[in-house]
Amino acid sequence: MKNWWKKSVVYQVYPKSFMDSNGDGVGDIQGLISKLNYLEKLGIDVIWLSPVYASPMDDNGYDISDYLSINPLFGSMEDMKQLIKEAQDRNIKIILDLVLNHTSDEHKWFIEGRKNKSNRTNDFYVWAKEPNSLISTFSGSAWEYNEETKEYFLHLFSKKMPDLNWKNKALRNEIYQMMNIWLDLGIEGFRFDVIEYIGKEPLSMVTANGPQLHTYIKEMNKATFGKRNTLTVGECWNVDIPIAKQYSNPDGSEFSMIFQFDHMKIDWDETLGKWKPCALDFVKLKEVLSNWQISMMGQGWNSLFWNNHDMPRIISRWNDDLINPVHSAKFFALINYFMQGTPFIYQGEELGMSNARFSTISDYVDVETINAYQDLVIDRALLSEEAFLKSASIFGRDNVRTPMQWDASPNAGFSIAKPWLPLCKNYKEVNAEKQIDDKNSVYNFYRSLIQLRKDSDYSDLIQDGRFTLLEPKDQHLFVYERQDEHKRILIVANYGNQKTHYKIPSRIIKKIISNTDSPIHQELDLMPYDAYAFELE
Ligand code: NOJ
Repeated sequence: MKNWWKKSVVYQVYPKSFMDSNGDGVGDIQGLISKLNYLEKLGIDVIWLSPVYASPMDDNGYDISDYLSINPLFGSMEDMKQLIKEAQDRNIKIILDLVLNHTSDEHKWFIEGRKNKSNRTNDFYVWAKEPNSLISTFSGSAWEYNEETKEYFLHLFSKKMPDLNWKNKALRNEIYQMMNIWLDLGIEGFRFDVIEYIGKEPLSMVTANGPQLHTYIKEMNKATFGKRNTLTVGECWNVDIPIAKQYSNPDGSEFSMIFQFDHMKIDWDETLGKWKPCALDFVKLKEVLSNWQISMMGQGWNSLFWNNHDMPRIISRWNDDLINPVHSAKFFALINYFMQGTPFIYQGEELGMSNARFSTISDYVDVETINAYQDLVIDRALLSEEAFLKSASIFGRDNVRTPMQWDASPNAGFSIAKPWLPLCKNYKEVNAEKQIDDKNSVYNFYRSLIQLRKDSDYSDLIQDGRFTLLEPKDQHLFVYERQDEHKRILIVANYGNQKTHYKIPSRIIKKIISNTDSPIHQELDLMPYDAYAFELE
């Protein structure tokens, strides 16, 4: 079926933290295989597998040293083939996380290329005689001196992640060949890491959205996945709606969809970003979501998400997770699942897992958090230690990378050994075993939402119906409608810790789903984090 991904739900697996099969405290491919039945039961269609390629793990695998081999920490190529097969047996497709903006400095292209200007792969990377003022996302200058060639190489991320030079045609061809090998092995799509940077002109200070970006994507599409029935999703941090439409053009010339963060940056500071967040402006959040919904309709395709391995748990960020976390986890799920787009679940979200809330800098292992601490607290003294640690407890990426909480046994059933990162302390109360047979669990709420999107009287409407935001200026109510020529759905939800009420604009035909059993009236009373979906006349 063409565009099958419009009705699909994607589940992101962060392999290091999903399930450990061999008792080394680190998740692996066999661990994932052992949990495929769990994922099948949840009802997801696609697994986005964060990198499992060979890597020195400076950034947990986003620093790839060989695109065509598997990191022994995670298993072998045989394990990977088995995963693809066993997933297919359960109608689950595997898409790989592909990092094409940079490699590890331990990739053979870089090892050879950095030795000598005349080596073939020297030009696979980006060099300058003098550095300019470009800053790395992981703090400090984006340029690093290379003694052998007396030039600087670009790294928009860590020093161990040199940026690739997409202007080099031989490099592009090697990348396309590698992608085709994966597609031939049964991979059914890709998530493209920070793809917005591949058209960069760093000497002119242009990183995202460079002039050749879409030319390269179109070329890649033709050379690789374009002729196959895949799901492709581009990660973009700097994208406006017109560019998003290009990326996800319904003519199929680029990607299936984009994964953009406009709704995720609302509470960030203009200069210090997530390290100095402000309170959430809920009216603004609704405006941003609604704008994307309306503008993309029929002209592009968006992802729907609240979390991923870089974006810590939404219930810890926009609700104090000590107050009714189950209820608010369902609230965030419900308001997301009736919008247009393809939902992405980050592992553990379906259980209502929360941030670990690490409290000292030594608790963190993530290169981004450690570098930011060094830069903002120590070197430039722009934030106090206390302020930084508070922000880090919300946004530090390790908070969302703690091991999956499978059961209440030691190490949450994730591993027989001490996990590579401490568990979130609530695993005895919040875990999969407890939730699977509990009809009121977050897990079963997600199952119902997935079912509604994929296979119900409302599936087509959820996929294509018009979107209208109601009560745009209300500080607590999130109300929107989806409508087509047959049906009309109304979502009503109450954000925050106070009661409110809402007069439903026309007769309720049916309550489709909600996170509460409170009585329903045309004049609806809503308790904190109550959320409903109704079919209306
Ligand atoms: C985005 C990935 O999601 C993130 O985890 C990684 O650190 C950077 N890209 C660099 O690859």
